Amino acid sequence: MTVAPLDALPLHVLRRRSSTKWRSYPEDVIPMFVAETDFALAPPITDALRAAVEIGDTGYTPPRPGVADAFVGFAGRRWGWEIDPARVRWTGDVMMGVVELLRAAVAPGARVVVTPPVYPPFFDTVREAGVVVEEVPLEDTGSGWRLDLPGIDAALRSGARAVLLCNPHNPTGTAHSASDLAELARIAARHAAVVISDEIHGPLTRPDIAFTPFLTASPDAAEVGFAVTSASKTFNLAGLKCAVMVAGSDAHAEVLRGLPWEVEWRTGLFGALAHNAAFSPASDDWLDRLLARLDENRALLVDLVASHLPRARFRVPDAGFLAWLDVSAYGWGDDPAVTVRRDARVALHHGPYFGPQGVGHVRLNFGCGPDLLREAIERIGRLAAR
Ligand SMILES: Cc1ncc(COP(=O)(O)O)c(C=O)c1O
Repeated sequence: MTVAPLDALPLHVLRRRSSTKWRSYPEDVIPMFVAETDFALAPPITDALRAAVEIGDTGYTPPRPGVADAFVGFAGRRWGWEIDPARVRWTGDVMMGVVELLRAAVAPGARVVVTPPVYPPFFDTVREAGVVVEEVPLEDTGSGWRLDLPGIDAALRSGARAVLLCNPHNPTGTAHSASDLAELARIAARHAAVVISDEIHGPLTRPDIAFTPFLTASPDAAEVGFAVTSASKTFNLAGLKCAVMVAGSDAHAEVLRGLPWEVEWRTGLFGALAHNAAFSPASDDWLDRLLARLDENRALLVDLVASHLPRARFRVPDAGFLAWLDVSAYGWGDDPAVTVRRDARVALHHGPYFGPQGVGHVRLNFGCGPDLLREAIERIGRLAAR
């Protein structure tokens, strides 16, 4: 059965939003930088939040807000991943979870591997946790990106204590293969290192591609790993503040249990209510429709780039609504997003923020309606044709 793709909200409605995407630039700029999406909420989320607003249900998040059970149900349904709810805790957002896990599981001052080009806050988050970034860039295989497993092995052998994995990867959209993840786990186990896997883009993996939650990749992965994830990217809930942390082993469950209660208190009540609704079976149809929209947009983007930006290099992502474009052929400098925003009036994310590999690159958010996507690429195309 084919699924009807989700429609985006009309532009005049989106312009009334008060979030970062819509309030950072003037109205003549099409915002495609930050990872927010342009759809109405899944109806079960709207219902849950509306009911809470109606009765002024805006106090503290309760001790057992239900998000662990909700995520366990979602992971089982969508990926066949069976999780013991006792191995799940929650917090305000994914990056808070990553910081707290790094603090709890890695000694201060230790080196932590990150794999650029990567989501810019990874660099700051590692520093915030009192540990040190060690870069082991993704490998460009000529047809895609892969973890540089020998490079990670060398880093861990020489003393790095952890890997902050992005699975699927932002900005390239790479859903790491089960075999690479199992090999990463084997390497980490050999060096007694920890892997913290940020899986926020996992639910957005294309229906024709398998997403492997890191903790399911192998028995080693369950031993060495933590996962941190959230419904916030998929269901556009970033402002509501909720994420979950999952331990794969008894020893790591002990680490999770040892986190201060304050870590859970940072969870927003609306975040928890929205997550319970997002992860419930009642939102599955909406998610399937979102995935259908992203499939259509991906295909449209391929056509648009071929017609309007033929010298750009772009690989179709396995997951998510972000496209990583190498536009260095157009001579827009090291950070082309600056020129594109100024002269084409489209706000893209700055490639160099993702690491030195991002020079000459931009990241484009296609979690929008097809008309806006077309308009944005046509604008950039006109700049390219000048
Ligand atoms: C890989 C990755 N991790 C984390 C985040 C942010 O998540 P949160 O707002 O829950 O910290 C994003 C946002 O785009 C992301 O792409």
